Amino acid sequence: MNQGKSSGAPSVAPRVIVPDSLGPGVLTIQQHILHEQQRFPGASGEFSWLLSGITLAAKMIQAKVRRAGLTDILGAPSGEVNVQGEVQQKLDVYSNEVLIHCLKVRESVGVLASEENEEAVLVHQGCENAKYAVVFDPLDGSSNIDVNVSVGTTFSVLRRPAGASLDDPERWVLQAGTEQVAAGYVVYGSSTMLVYSVGNGVHGFTLDPAVGAFILSHPNMRMPPKGAYYSVNEAKASGFPEPYQRYLQRLRSGALGDYSSRYIGSMVADFHRTLLRGGLFLYPPTASHLSGKLRLLYEANPIAFLAEQAGGIALDGERRVLEICPDNVHQRTPLVTGSIEEMYDFMKFMGLRL
Ligand code: AHG
Ligand code: MN
Ligand code: MN
Repeated sequence: MNQGKSSGAPSVAPRVIVPDSLGPGVLTIQQHILHEQQRFPGASGEFSWLLSGITLAAKMIQAKVRRAGLTDILGAPSGEVNVQGEVQQKLDVYSNEVLIHCLKVRESVGVLASEENEEAVLVHQGCENAKYAVVFDPLDGSSNIDVNVSVGTTFSVLRRPAGASLDDPERWVLQAGTEQVAAGYVVYGSSTMLVYSVGNGVHGFTLDPAVGAFILSHPNMRMPPKGAYYSVNEAKASGFPEPYQRYLQRLRSGALGDYSSRYIGSMVADFHRTLLRGGLFLYPPTASHLSGKLRLLYEANPIAFLAEQAGGIALDGERRVLEICPDNVHQRTPLVTGSIEEMYDFMKFMGLRL
């Protein structure tokens, strides 16, 4: 893949020698993506080129995050609010611009939708041959930016629906999560990690700052079948629907095991821990957010895709998150996701049969 090109997808797949099987040794995310591409004979390389836009943006965002206390990037730019009515931080705005910049030069990308933009936007004046839409939360966990706590980026790639015209960008993104062709997140934590799936397992890459490349560090990630943590904003518990309150009481009772609570307030970081350690992450409906707070298209869907690919489960409290058919770009959803044992227990407790 050629990240040095200023625009346009390679017309044929780049001639890079990739081993048939991914054995031990240093493997960059670019090599991994190319290897995944080999599963699709005749693939043009456009998809790999698209994903390289995300990895480039991730490096640029993490560079800013890493120097956040040293440059004028903390805080909010004079009272800006996004479409959700939430105060935008400078890093929200910067991360959004970087992702748009890195993706709009990929000709295979026709539509971008972001938490920070009111509407799905058509990019590069519309390229008739564009095949993909990308939706993202450029900076997840805004309340943690100024206090040096982990934040993240989430993304989801969707194929252009048959017959979707350039005049109707919304149609490109209003698809159920089952239609995602790739999804992932970047967590800017004690190291920067990119975790992604193209529907063939979940793979994690750690940025090696010395060489500036994401290196495969967590191949074939599997969520443990049971964990020792549950993660929820318990301060809001009195506003949760009563069955959720009773379920949290069940977790505290020891009936399922001995749990500790962990809650960072950055969904990406809370989910990353859940992916690695197992357990549960919940953002139920609350008194102020009756449909939950998290956004379906660019928060819950990528997380649900990864959870299922890693052997976990993701529900909106009643059904698979991935089966929800959205009617709004910024639609919200409750989210309950985690290890199979806890999730089966949750489903049984709630009387769900899926
Ligand atoms: P964002 O910063 O993109 O608006 O997302 C914040 C979200 C999510 O990251 C997190 O899980 C949740 O808000 C935390 O909300 P509470 O403070 O209500 O727990
Ligand atoms: Mn978010
Ligand atoms: Mn955000």
